[in-house]
Amino acid sequence: MPLVNTKQMFKDAYEGKYAVGAFNVDILTQCQAALEAAEECNSPIILSFSSGSRDFFHPGNIKDILLIAAKDIHIPWAIHLDHGKSFEVCKSCIDEGFTSVMIDASAYDFEENVRITKQVVEYAHAHGATVEGELGPCSRKDDPRFKKFTDPEMVKEFVERTGVDSLAVSMGTKHGLAKFEEGEEVTLQFDLIDEVARLLPGFPLVLHGSSSIPDEYLHIFNDYGGELKGTKGVPEELLRKVAKTAVCKINIGTDFRVAFVGGLRKSLTEIKDKFEPRNFLVPARELSKKLVKEKLSNVFQSSNKVSRI
Ligand code: 13P
Repeated sequence: MPLVNTKQMFKDAYEGKYAVGAFNVDILTQCQAALEAAEECNSPIILSFSSGSRDFFHPGNIKDILLIAAKDIHIPWAIHLDHGKSFEVCKSCIDEGFTSVMIDASAYDFEENVRITKQVVEYAHAHGATVEGELGPCSRKDDPRFKKFTDPEMVKEFVERTGVDSLAVSMGTKHGLAKFEEGEEVTLQFDLIDEVARLLPGFPLVLHGSSSIPDEYLHIFNDYGGELKGTKGVPEELLRKVAKTAVCKINIGTDFRVAFVGGLRKSLTEIKDKFEPRNFLVPARELSKKLVKEKLSNVFQSSNKVSRI
């Protein structure tokens, strides 16, 4: 049961020129889909909980539940808090066994962001957990804070002053389903990544907002009564390229949710004469597992990169 923090995962990913996939989860069935996909690909994986997902899943017992669920999993995996907004929420996740937390104090000014992040780092490191900070913001398309990309010199200062283990920076992506306008050319700031790699050799960056909204899964969702419109994600070609750089963690929330709920919509529509929840949840688990396997092997290039523990 190799539940680990992200330190070695990211070191291996940096040196091996691939990225670790972090998938946002709400329920145990999604955790099983992601863990089984990683096990079959022989890839590391991170299960990411937002504060809302954590409250819904089972605050206080997530680690215990997942350790039982992962008893046959032999690849390294981590339990991560996504976009923790305060020292207190990060502390309580660490206390209950999360191996990695993100402190997102990017809504504050630089000095306050440094102060809060450093406080989380000190607590986390004393308890064996790793910390992702944010110097961004990595926001939504309509977020007025989303004005410019992160300055590499500020990254260096932020990392040195906080001791953070990895950092989410603003390099061209956004969260959600409709990341870009129709016809807008999608680019990532590869110069920014290269400059950070020059200033801080070996330091892992994190890419948020990395869903591609693949047609296959969107069609299933919409063919069975869904109405997701105006979607535009990050092209997989760009993600394949970024996975070989200092970006060691790539976050996927939207694609994983669309695949899972699409599978659920399909089974709820097609199966008319059964009422056991598992009859509907198993197809959803399998469809979302297929998506995770495609990401790990074809996009993040992390398959067969770990020794089984
Ligand atoms: P997407 O919305 O692109 O899936 O991004 C998820 C994410 O970055 C979670 O922090």
